[in-house]
Amino acid sequence: MSDLAHFDVAGKRVFLRCDLNVPLKDGVIKDDGRIKASLPTIQALLEKGASIVIAAHLGRPKGEVKPELSLAPVAKRLGELLGQEIIFPGQVVGDVVTASVQSLKPGQILLLENIRFSSAETSKEESERAEFASQLAKLADAYVGDGFGAVHRKHASVFDLPKLLPHIAGTLVAAEVEVLKKLTQNPERPYGVVLGGAKVSDKLAVIENLLGKVDVLAIGGGMVFTFLKAQGKEIGTSLVEIEMLDVVKGLIESAKKNGVKLVLPTDIVVAPSFSADATPTLVSADAIPADQMGLDIGPESAAAFAIEIEKCKTVFWNGPMGVFEFANFAAGTKTVAAALTKVSGISVVGGGDSAAAVRALGFTDSEFGYISTGGGASLEYLEGKELPGLQALGL
Ligand code: 3PG
Repeated sequence: MSDLAHFDVAGKRVFLRCDLNVPLKDGVIKDDGRIKASLPTIQALLEKGASIVIAAHLGRPKGEVKPELSLAPVAKRLGELLGQEIIFPGQVVGDVVTASVQSLKPGQILLLENIRFSSAETSKEESERAEFASQLAKLADAYVGDGFGAVHRKHASVFDLPKLLPHIAGTLVAAEVEVLKKLTQNPERPYGVVLGGAKVSDKLAVIENLLGKVDVLAIGGGMVFTFLKAQGKEIGTSLVEIEMLDVVKGLIESAKKNGVKLVLPTDIVVAPSFSADATPTLVSADAIPADQMGLDIGPESAAAFAIEIEKCKTVFWNGPMGVFEFANFAAGTKTVAAALTKVSGISVVGGGDSAAAVRALGFTDSEFGYISTGGGASLEYLEGKELPGLQALGL
């Protein structure tokens, strides 16, 4: 394995897997962070004299052609950012694609339609994926894997295709892995992790793994109410995973045993319903009224989280602290994000959603140590799992 700088692609056609899965609303891109993060590899390949066939997914169309999940808006934005035409045949494979690919000249870029419009991309049947991968392999002379957000997926364009072509990691994947290695191999201490988001069950494996490694674990977001209930607190109509209560009790015990400081909120912003205009009320985490739901951590909790974060030399954050999309319930997430910008060591914002959240709240990427483009992928890396897309690239 050498790096992209030494990968000879002059005059060749490169198949480049990117993660261009951007949030879209009514066909409008809400956050183009993943497109921007893909530019350095694209530019490096163009400078080397390659032509590029880019493949990416958008949403989860499950093998069906869904016009609302077309990559057409992404092709347009990519073209604007690069200042050049992006050829967009509007299909994943087929005669039109083959003809367009064959006429590509060095310096030209073609973007395939949403690769998940083909059911073989995500198939659990190895033979189906392999057959699709061999079709894709005919489109190029070499493969560059740069879709970090999808490296935890055993999909044809991520896992099977690189085996069929000379391959290498793009600069984004290489950078992401380097940062995650810093978190997993000898992180500078204190090492703190802040987790939010809706479900404990989604984060269970990573919490279990981190309890043996971190000094501080702060928990907010919808999943915190399962922790509060496990401590015997009244949580009103807040989100809860009843079936996880015993597991969460075990996690609280395990934190104690491992000497991990588990930081939970002491005050909560509640409302009678889940809506942007619901009236917010601040209550103690011990006294959530029976008819109210928690939608954000309160200011005392956010300040306590911030103090812990700022003391750390290594911080990883994944998942909002509250419903940041509603202005009345965004303060907790904003305070945590601001604390991350003050960390003197390395601060990592993990994931597409968390990254979009900090940008939506007015922060810029450069205020953080590193903004990962992969939420699920970075969490699975921290769980210690082997990720198919990295394995295929020899990383
Ligand atoms: C993401 O948004 O985290 C990546 O693009 C992966 O998408 P997926 O969870 O649909 O595989």
